Amino acid sequence: MSVPFLDLKAINLSQGDELEAAFKRVLQSGWYILGGETAAFEAAFAAYCRSRHAIGVANGLDAIFLILKACGIGPGDEVIVPSNTFIATWLAVSDCGATPVPVEPSADGFNIDPARVAAAITPRTRAILPVHLYGQTADMDPLQALATQHGLKLIEDAAQAHGALYRGRVAGQLGDAAAFSFYPGKNLGALGDGGAVTTSDDALAERIRTLRNYGSRVKYYNEVQGYNSRLDELQAALLSVKLPGLDADNARRRAIAAIYQRELAGVDGLALPRVPEWAEPVWHVYVVRHARRDALAKALAEQGIGTIVHYPVPPHLQPAYAHLGYRRGDFPLAEAIHDEVLSLPMGPTMTAEQALEVAAAVRGFCAA
Ligand SMILES: Cc1ncc(COP(=O)(O)O)c(C=O)c1O
Repeated sequence: MSVPFLDLKAINLSQGDELEAAFKRVLQSGWYILGGETAAFEAAFAAYCRSRHAIGVANGLDAIFLILKACGIGPGDEVIVPSNTFIATWLAVSDCGATPVPVEPSADGFNIDPARVAAAITPRTRAILPVHLYGQTADMDPLQALATQHGLKLIEDAAQAHGALYRGRVAGQLGDAAAFSFYPGKNLGALGDGGAVTTSDDALAERIRTLRNYGSRVKYYNEVQGYNSRLDELQAALLSVKLPGLDADNARRRAIAAIYQRELAGVDGLALPRVPEWAEPVWHVYVVRHARRDALAKALAEQGIGTIVHYPVPPHLQPAYAHLGYRRGDFPLAEAIHDEVLSLPMGPTMTAEQALEVAAAVRGFCAA
């Protein structure tokens, strides 16, 4: 049996009829940008995230960028970001002219370590931007305490964490604002690019609504220099079909993760994800660590098992950030993670048999 890393086609075909009906509805409406479909999805997603507002934007990177812009963050400002993340988190900061200030994860986890954040705060710091990496929330209470103490914005990068819980509270309402991605492979994925900001700050929401639409609230009257970053009607309609199934999809991911946690416990040389008592992850990906990660990936591929490395090179070592002058060794925890992580197959259409087969193959490699 081959096990794909993620079967997007099966996921979307499981709701094929409803998705086609939504497509036809948009096609026949004759209205494709900023209409009823976007408004309806925004209302539903805001309710899901227990937030007063959701604002549909073009993608997750723009969602972070527009939050930072709306907070007035720009050149000369610093934003604290994880050293261990996908590069989009950093790009949003540097795209608005501010400087990303990396902070290492906790030694036994993947997310930013609140204990190290305090030491990175300077008079220029304007915001803390934790990422709920792999679908598990960052430890938000201590971060909120620091943000309050220093007068900083707390912004969630929730691109991988639709429905994840922190002490029973859903991602998207854990800071001043949150950024989501609806990239097709995400837990809530569109059939193209998409993103959203959630916030309960009315003024911030209004600024982001204006910024995403050319800086305009009334057509052809531009109050500020804005952007074109809107969730289109078609993607909104498709997302409205998928949102009601998100909790069930996440429950299936949890079931697969539980099989991995059980079947791989104690395997020699393998580190499994640690879930603190306050976290209920949604397992956007299930990530193990192994010193011989590339050999493990190859052995699994030979048995028809798909894996991905999230991610092979940390942002501070990417050529894109060479001008910041970081070297290997500057963020050793992030570097070790990027050297050792491997994401096993995970998704809402995966079966228990497939998970057992993957686990057996991993055990086989580690025993050899
Ligand atoms: C942690 C994180 N932040 C931001 C993004 C950016 O989202 P998008 O690809 O929709 O721009 C992604 C997804 O790719 C992500 O994984």
